[in-house]
Amino acid sequence: MLKVDNIHTFYGKSHVLHGVTMEVKKGEVVGLLGRNGVGKTTTLRSIMGLTPAKQGKIEFDGVDITHLKTYKIARLGIGYVPQGRRIFPLLTVLENLKTPIIKGKVEEKDINEIFEYFPRLKERINQRGGTLSGGEQQMLAVARALMGKPKLMILDEPSEGLQPSMVEMVKETIISLNKKGIDVLVVEQNLESALDVCQRIYVMEKGVIKYEEKKENLNKDILMRYLTV
Ligand SMILES: Nc1ncnc2c1ncn2[C@@H]1O[C@H](COP(=O)(O)OP(=O)(O)O)[C@@H](O)[C@H]1O
Ligand SMILES: [Mg+2]
Repeated sequence: MLKVDNIHTFYGKSHVLHGVTMEVKKGEVVGLLGRNGVGKTTTLRSIMGLTPAKQGKIEFDGVDITHLKTYKIARLGIGYVPQGRRIFPLLTVLENLKTPIIKGKVEEKDINEIFEYFPRLKERINQRGGTLSGGEQQMLAVARALMGKPKLMILDEPSEGLQPSMVEMVKETIISLNKKGIDVLVVEQNLESALDVCQRIYVMEKGVIKYEEKKENLNKDILMRYLTV
């Protein structure tokens, strides 16, 4: 589904990704782990064309997206929920959901479907985004990304800063997205949270993938070495 092949990404002259290679196969929930500052967000930004890779190739659903514009990548079927859940605080829940107007793609019935999926948001339909709890804002960010009918959802640290009950809700959401047939790539700091939802994980260090394993085969000692300070 998604193939990232040996990408190099820079911020100006600063070389951040040094040949990242990873993939998400059809039906998978894949985790991307690693300490702060190793390049997880940059990897996602490269996939989305926000900080395009200078070298290497990214393919999605058979299409070379390496140098495509972000909105085109989104239209091909990737939903992106950035770190820090950037919803519009002054817009209501409903208005937030209507922002990703992709011509002819967002309809009233789609919004109803979303509300069936997130009843908690429906109860708060006219409440301003900024007045929702952290967990509800995360739900709204995920719901908004779902409006584009993605085949793949990319989530950057969705559990960051949430209270435990909300972390559970995020995990359940990821599992139910996957049941709906949507593939998921999720960046996580917390190993246990990642293992609860992911079938396979990658661990990054200093701009490269250092470790990759299926959940059932992974070696926690090696993993912890990459994840603890
Ligand atoms: N906009 C930016 N301009 C310059 N450097 C950046 C920018 N964003 C991130 N970086 C640097 O790139 C590296 C990787 O950052 P990031 O991908 O955000 O890491 P992670 O998501 O794994 O914490 C860090 O050293 C960070 O300081
Ligand atoms: Mg990050």
